[in-house]
Amino acid sequence: MTSGRSVLITGTSSGVGRALLEHYTRNGSKVISVNRRRVPELESAYPSVRFECVDVRSDEEVEMLIQRLTESAELPELFILNAGINCVDNDESFQLAAYREVVDTNLFGVLHFIQPLTELPPSESPRRLIAISSLASYVGNPYGLGYTTSKRALTECFDAWSKMYRGTDLVFQQVMLGPVDTAIYTMADRFPTWMVRIKNAFSAPPAATARAIALFGLTRRPKLFYPWRAVPLYLGMWLFRSLLPGFFQGRKTLDGRARRST
Ligand SMILES: NC(=O)c1ccc[n+]([C@@H]2O[C@H](COP(=O)([O-])OP(=O)(O)OC[C@H]3O[C@@H](n4cnc5c(N)ncnc54)[C@H](OP(=O)(O)O)[C@@H]3O)[C@@H](O)[C@H]2O)c1
Repeated sequence: MTSGRSVLITGTSSGVGRALLEHYTRNGSKVISVNRRRVPELESAYPSVRFECVDVRSDEEVEMLIQRLTESAELPELFILNAGINCVDNDESFQLAAYREVVDTNLFGVLHFIQPLTELPPSESPRRLIAISSLASYVGNPYGLGYTTSKRALTECFDAWSKMYRGTDLVFQQVMLGPVDTAIYTMADRFPTWMVRIKNAFSAPPAATARAIALFGLTRRPKLFYPWRAVPLYLGMWLFRSLLPGFFQGRKTLDGRARRST
């Protein structure tokens, strides 16, 4: 069903991006993979894939890539803007450098594609731009503030664009991902075991996630919530947070150097 398409995927060295690369390659699609570093093992396993070494944090590198693809008439019909990172930036103290790196990757790493694509003359067939956002946009982890705020801003941008460009050749879509079994930082050591167990129980495998994203990419729906079973979990967390101040909010420890509440 997804064969014959051309797709560009960012961040294919692991996790969801790698599963997407495998999915589209298996279906006979023409795949352009965008990674910030060369991954020889991946490149030799998928000789039909065009590998581009581009750091999505660089607007210049992304713009040059779009220009090269446009000039060679190889601009794909589907962009899956998946590359992302997560890290602790708000624990003992707020760490601006770490926060900035997360926002540069998760938010600007997507936005860098949007300016050149919206500047192109309209194409005859639809061009789909799928951002991989997160359910953390709704209930974020306070220790990873860059992650939550970058995904929330990404979701706002795609909400706006999906409405503004409705009916045009540019189709803006986003995936509100819940937990997926990947190596992205989960901060398991900071939460009680029961919380980690629940998260694991609700997690989806990367291959199933890739299939769901590929099917979604055939529609014009603006949003996909996946895995659906994780939605009540996030809703519950949101409810607990609203009712119990302090629940899943993070607290400063009460040792000698602790900040006292006033
Ligand atoms: N897993 C989850 O539970 C979950 C939940 C909600 C949303 N998501 C989102 O899903 C997406 C994929 O995450 P994942 O779970 O598959 O994590 P992952 O396995 O860590 O994959 C992240 C990918 O992004 C790449 N990347 C990072 N910085 C980059 C940069 N500056 N330029 C180009 N590529 C870069 C990584 O490459 P390197 O190998 O070079 O680091 C890697 O290929 C992310 O946007 C994430 O926020 C994941």
